Parts: sequence; C-alpha cells; structure tokens
Amino acid sequence: MSITNRSVTPASVGSPRTRELLERRARTLGRHSPLFYDEPIELVAGSGAWVEDSAGRRYLDGYNNVPHVGHAHPVVADAVVTQMHRLALHTRYLNEHVLDYAEQLLATFEEPLDRVAFTNSGSEANELALRIAWQHTGSRGVLVSDCSYHGTTYSLARVTTGLVTGESFADHARALRIPDATGMSAEQSAELLVTSLREVDEAITSLQEAGHGVAVLLVDPLFSSEGLNTLPPGYVTGLVQRVRAAGGLVVSDEVQSGFGRTAESMWGYQNHGIVPDMVTMGKPMGNGHPLGGTVLSDALLEEFGSRNMYFNTFAGNPVSAAAGRAVLQVMRDEKLVERAVDLSEVVGAGFRELQRVDPRVSAVRGRGLYQGLEFTDPGTGAPDADTARTVVEAMRNDGVLISRIGRNGNVLKIRPPLAITEDDVQVLLEKLTTAVTAR
Ligand SMILES: Cc1ncc(COP(=O)(O)O)c(C=O)c1O
Repeated sequence: MSITNRSVTPASVGSPRTRELLERRARTLGRHSPLFYDEPIELVAGSGAWVEDSAGRRYLDGYNNVPHVGHAHPVVADAVVTQMHRLALHTRYLNEHVLDYAEQLLATFEEPLDRVAFTNSGSEANELALRIAWQHTGSRGVLVSDCSYHGTTYSLARVTTGLVTGESFADHARALRIPDATGMSAEQSAELLVTSLREVDEAITSLQEAGHGVAVLLVDPLFSSEGLNTLPPGYVTGLVQRVRAAGGLVVSDEVQSGFGRTAESMWGYQNHGIVPDMVTMGKPMGNGHPLGGTVLSDALLEEFGSRNMYFNTFAGNPVSAAAGRAVLQVMRDEKLVERAVDLSEVVGAGFRELQRVDPRVSAVRGRGLYQGLEFTDPGTGAPDADTARTVVEAMRNDGVLISRIGRNGNVLKIRPPLAITEDDVQVLLEKLTTAVTAR
C-alpha cells in the first residue's frame, strides 16, 4: 500500500491549477497526506465506472471499490438525501430503517453470524473485533499476514505489516508468511502447504511460549496487499483449524473482498469454505458514505455487550442505514454480483492473453473483479516493480485509473466499481494492452 502513496513536491508537477491545489493541500493537510500519481488528478464528478477531472477529461475507474454500485449512483444519493431531510440522529432511539438494513445485511451471512455492530469505518470495525476477541479469549496474541493493513487505530498500527507505522510491531503479534503457489505443480503446492502450516504452528507456539496465547487471526481473505496470492489448497482451512485449536477467534476483514467483489461469493471467506467468528467491513458498504460494521454471533455480542457499554454516536445512524440499504438494493436490482461473474471471465481472458504475448507478465492473479498482472524480469526472474509503476502512470495518462500492490509492488491492482460494464472492460483491456506492450 505504501508504494502507491507519495508526498509530492508542489513545484515539480503539473498545471498551475494542480500546483496551486498541491500548495494549499500542503499548507492545510500537510506534506505527507498521500496522493496517487506523479501528476495527481483533481476529480470533480463521476457516474458509473467513470470519473471526470476539473478540465472535463474523463477517466475509466479501474481502481476504486468505494463507489461499489457506481459513482454518484442516483438511488444511493436519493436515499441519503431523503433521510437527511427527514431525520439524522444517533442510535439511541428506535428507527425502523436501521433495523431493515441490519436484517437485509445479516441475511447475506450463514449461521451463526446473526448480529451486527455498525461502525463508521473499516478501522473501527477491526478495532472492535480485536476488543471482542481479547475479552472473549483472555489472551492477547494476534496473528496477521505479512504484508497487511487493517486500519488506523493504535492497536491496528501495532499489527500492521504492509506499510510504515511509527509504532513498533507488537510483542503480542506474529506475522504469517502467506504462501503463494502461483505457477507451481500440484506436488510443489502440497509441499508449500506443509511448510506454511508448519510456520503457522511455530507462530502459535511462539505466542504461547511468550505468555500471550492466541486471541485472534485477522486476515483479508483475498490477501490483496500481499499481491492476491494463489494459496495452496487447504491453507486457509488448516490455518483456521490451528487458530481455533489454540483458543483463538478468526476475523475475516472484508473491507476489500466483501460485497461480491470476488464475484462467486458475497463474502471473500466463502471462497475458502470457512465461517469466521467475526466479519469486518467498510469501504463499499455505503458507496462513499462512511459506513462499516462488525458481524458476529449472538453469543459473542452478548458476552461483549454485558461487559461493555458500547455506544458509537454516528455508527448505524438512519442516514448511513439509508446508504447501506440502497447499496444492497442496487446490487440486487442491477444484478451486479451475477454480472461480475461474467465480467471477471472477460477480464481474466484478456489478462491471460497479455501473459501469453508478453514474457514480462509472469502471472495473472486474483479473482472476480479484483485481478492483477504480475511483472517479473524474464532474464533474472526478479520482481519488476518498475514496469508495474510505468504501466500505472501510462494508464493514468491514457485515461484509466489503476494501481499496484504486492510485497514487491510488481502486481497491478485492478479493482473497479462493480458497476463497470462490458464496454468499459473492453476499454480497460485495450488501454492496458497498449500500456504494457508500448513499454
Ligand atoms: C483490508 C483493509 N482493512 C481495513 C482498512 C481500513 O479501513 P478504513 O480506511 O475505512 O478505516 C483498509 C483500508 O484500506 C483495508 O484495505
């Protein structure tokens, strides 16, 4: 994640307008507020999977999962405005809209995930999940993946492995090297499974020997920051089984993988055949309205609720509920997940063709509408972050927004709104082919 963020020196870029905004931004938000691109873009409007800059230039959005059902979707905008005109308040009064939304959201989960605590962000959802796990287990140990990000709070900063934080990595945390079986034979993959699960055992033992025990496994089921790893079959089930045997809870962070992103499933964990103890969510949930949540069982929430007066002023207020409900409605009405199944095949086929013709494309990663091309130097076999970076900048200059991820920053991150159409996908593939082959 850190690889896509940069501090820009105002005098070095862009039009007078861009420079002026950068200077004002530096004077108000400070120099380190991250921005995309060598020449940042000033976006002013959007519709569907398209956005427009202040000069009227349109860009195809191949990156953003916040505008999940499409930029400025009228159904979501109207729902928010209507509720704002009616009542905007905190959650200590009865309000049927909030309950309607909670019921609809919970209907997308299997047993025993039948309660939701709303939050305002993915960070808050994960922080709450940590508190619940720590109190439930009486242990402190946290297992995370080795290039991860779960949010901005102090507790989460201390278990972050994927970007720079000033807090030291916590004594009570262990980072698991997430295996990647891309390009491996079945035998190699089976060997990798054995080694990787042994590493899980070692991490658990190390937490236990240090007296922390195991409270929780917190992971993104797509392992997106790691680079959308291809896991050896059985890894996630083996991991979950070990964490539970050690007394820990399992949290699936669905901030990136949720709400049908992986096309075949509503939730990323469902691709692994597991049911976590808690599911956390954010980004796409309110289509731009700040909305997050922690979904869990009645038993866990009962236990936490009886010990803690948990009240969150804005979380699950009627306006947020209107946004969340409208997102689910549009997903249903426009059959976005069903469409994503077909579109993801078109994306995958286009990417595989690029892999076939260009030796620097070493793998096609990911699933659903979150896929990426991996670049490797064909001569040395080294990760080729330089080509990935050049392609991202070339795409921006050609009117398509994407980014890059991975431990080495050499995997393109292509994660468009689910509202993307087949014509848009063709535009994306054509421009990607131009950007890759021109380099
Ligand atoms: C996987 C994951 N979890 C949690 C978060 C934090 O969410 P938020 O920025 O809404 O607090 C992010 C944000 O990038 C994320 O990608």
